[in-house]
Amino acid sequence: MWKIETPLKNINGKLFFANVNTAKLANEFGTPLFVTDSERIISNYNNLHSAFSSHYDKFKINYAVKANNNLSVLKLFNSLGSGADCSCPEEISLAKKMGFSSKDILYTGNYNSEDQLSFALKQKIIINVDSSSILPRLLRIGTPNFISLRINPGIGGGSHSGLVFGGKNTKFGMSKNDAIESYNIAKKAGVKKFGIHMMTGSSILDTSYFKKATNKLIDIAVEIVEECKISLDFINIGGGFGIPYQPPEKSLDIKKVGSDIGKIFNGKKSSKILNNPWLFVEPGRYLVADSTILLTSVHSIKSGPIKYIGVDAGMNTLLRPALYDAYHHVLNASRLNSRPKKPVNICGQICENTDILAKNRKIGTVKEGDLLAILNVGAYGFSMSSHYNTRPRAAEVMINKKKYKIIRQRETINDLIKGQKVVTWFK
Ligand code: LLP
Repeated sequence: MWKIETPLKNINGKLFFANVNTAKLANEFGTPLFVTDSERIISNYNNLHSAFSSHYDKFKINYAVKANNNLSVLKLFNSLGSGADCSCPEEISLAKKMGFSSKDILYTGNYNSEDQLSFALKQKIIINVDSSSILPRLLRIGTPNFISLRINPGIGGGSHSGLVFGGKNTKFGMSKNDAIESYNIAKKAGVKKFGIHMMTGSSILDTSYFKKATNKLIDIAVEIVEECKISLDFINIGGGFGIPYQPPEKSLDIKKVGSDIGKIFNGKKSSKILNNPWLFVEPGRYLVADSTILLTSVHSIKSGPIKYIGVDAGMNTLLRPALYDAYHHVLNASRLNSRPKKPVNICGQICENTDILAKNRKIGTVKEGDLLAILNVGAYGFSMSSHYNTRPRAAEVMINKKKYKIIRQRETINDLIKGQKVVTWFK
């Protein structure tokens, strides 16, 4: 089995997370329950920051809010000095609510509506334009001071086909030629400051990918600067930094990524032609994925050719396994010392055959009433959860140095029907 690492601890066969007994949390707050260790987020942020800034000091992290939009998580990133990458007006509003100033907010939407563009313009944040058809619409509404364009540099990465955003026939970003035309249009319209951006894939553990993609973006940036006679304030290489989900995957060597990218930014093209732009990244997963576990109780076990362990979390709570066949490691928090036995499937209570959280896992003895912990759910866990099958969404707790606090109440039936109006047509 995978070695239990901090913040996970095995104390007499029971799982402790960030020095708190998971059984105690489950008793106090019920299950399913997302539990986030704030210290882990801080150390992830610091690791990433020092990996890059020790090679290139004009470096900034913009946390990708979509990964985990809990207000306490946003507050924490704001206190660390992070910027925020937002995908819609609602995320912009959350970031503002938690203290991010306009200059620290990027808006990377795609296929935006005029209402969304006009909201973003009013907020005076940096708008990252995804396609050349959006720009004229934006400029008809108003002229932003600062604009960035999202480029598709022609390559993509990602641990699943659904997580590849760059390369041929993807829905994101514009070609170099479209970008040249768009920068010229924006310049003519009076835009004063420019940035350039790419986000080509997610959950990447191969260090060399980041080097390759960044070199491509830098080459495109050089052509744009020379052709359009503009200067680029920042070059945003996106997020995509992976974490190990499945044994024996190893952590991404973030120091190597930082030093490779640092070299590119200290190189001739960047320092002489691009004139030392800011280096931006916008990670979600790397910062929050391993900060959170999902506690779920075993309610019913069905024997058969393969045993089904039925728990109270499901695809409504954690969609990634059903959507991407994603692997999340599962521990029996009640019996950590039990030896691996026959493989089992762990499933939720949703009326779908794809509602399986873990397939063919050897997790040892499991009994009804046990507490399971699903690991690495801090990114795209709660944020992709739903009400499907009329399920209230789970509660969230944050731990900070052994203190803990509920940061999102468990929903009730009232949350599910909020906003509905019953017609009077039917008696
Ligand atoms: N920037 C933009 C414009 C993005 O669209 C994303 C993620 C990020 C940054 C952050 O990417 P990260 O560092 O987390 O890889 N639901 C999927 C992940 C989809 C990512 C979508 N965009 C999952 O559960 O794996």
